[in-house]
Amino acid sequence: MKLLVTGGAGFIGACFVRQTIADTNDEVVVLDSLTYAGNLENLAGLEESGRFKFVRGSICDPEAVEEAIEGCDAVLNFAAETHVDRSITDPGIFVETNVQGPRVLMSAAQTRKLRYLQVSTDEVYGSLGPDGYFYETTPLDPSSPYAASKASADLLVGAYITTFGLDAVITRCGNNYGPYQFPEKLIPLFITNALEGRELPLYGDGLNVRDWIHVEDHARAIRTVLEKGETGKAYNVSAGGELNNRQICERILEILGKPWDLVRFVDDRPGHDRRYALDATLLRTELGWEPQVRFDAGMQGTIDFYRDNTQWWERIKSGEYMNYYDRMYAQRLADSDPQPSGQGVHT
Ligand code: NAD
Ligand code: DAU
Repeated sequence: MKLLVTGGAGFIGACFVRQTIADTNDEVVVLDSLTYAGNLENLAGLEESGRFKFVRGSICDPEAVEEAIEGCDAVLNFAAETHVDRSITDPGIFVETNVQGPRVLMSAAQTRKLRYLQVSTDEVYGSLGPDGYFYETTPLDPSSPYAASKASADLLVGAYITTFGLDAVITRCGNNYGPYQFPEKLIPLFITNALEGRELPLYGDGLNVRDWIHVEDHARAIRTVLEKGETGKAYNVSAGGELNNRQICERILEILGKPWDLVRFVDDRPGHDRRYALDATLLRTELGWEPQVRFDAGMQGTIDFYRDNTQWWERIKSGEYMNYYDRMYAQRLADSDPQPSGQGVHT
């Protein structure tokens, strides 16, 4: 098979591409516009396989898509604007990339009768209380502009299936962690800040819960859905890894041997979803996928990666991104209450 992987220079797309080249005989074409989040270092060495090609271009540009899709058998769309905080300060680009982009890709896939896989997210379902789970049948109820743009794409996938007969499937996964994640997301930000001796800015009361999964398990789930998923279906992806943000902080600080004093409680994210938790029975029972990475081992490996590859993230954190981040962080600090003393982890 020859796969078009869009957004393949980002965190999850690159993991999927590395796995595909290592574990299969497939050819891969990556189409990526290399935004601040795209990084060719994530794909280093893959040319040597003779089965990998990189095309720089946007999924919103039909000509770039035409060039990249030539000869492909399926399209997997990882490309997106992905950071919730950025969607609050600049929602426009999220609508452009996350809604218009999938439309362009689906039109191209439909013309050629190719399978289309949309990499979606659990955030499309909104927020849960302390109990219960998101099912594939749970109504979409997104909170942030990011989540709304991803939900819009999911609805558009449904419309392309119903109206044009597109062969499409959707995956909806929880929070990923692992190597090569851009250090604006919770886990890589907190690991690298702790390594640098900087504060860890915990939003609100720090008790928001996310459903964590190692990126390699997510990539294997996407492969499973690509090969076995039923046209028109969405599949939740979860390893049952519910943890709140204080627990994540504690694990990171424990492994690094750093003090809790580094944690700084800051103003909450507007519209901050309280809890995500997915029921992935469909993926497990119908398609036979099972997660392979236990959280403790996955977290240790992730911390080892950031400890051993400082040049990968120091270059990012010393660049233009940090100007953006420092401004946002300074604003949150200015808006926040003084640091509560002696805060421990509350479960
Ligand atoms: P990322 O931000 O690390 O990477 C996104 C990639 O998309 C980058 O390489 C970027 O250059 C590329 N891109 C952005 N706009 C583009 C455009 N117009 N044309 C072509 N390429 C473009 O994101 P990620 O964390 O790897 O997420 C990948 C996908 O998985 C996204 O669709 C996201 O919504 C979804 N997802 C992410 C998570 C998570 O925890 N990170 C969880 C569930 C679902
Ligand atoms: O659930 C899947 C989603 O997970 C993906 O669709 C998104 O692309 C991905 O960015 C992620 O979204 P979150 O908003 O959950 O991830 P983030 O790492 O930004 O935040 C995780 C939790 O940590 C959330 O409750 C907010 C909190 N947080 C985050 C940052 C960056 C902090 O307390 N402090 C921080 O500095």
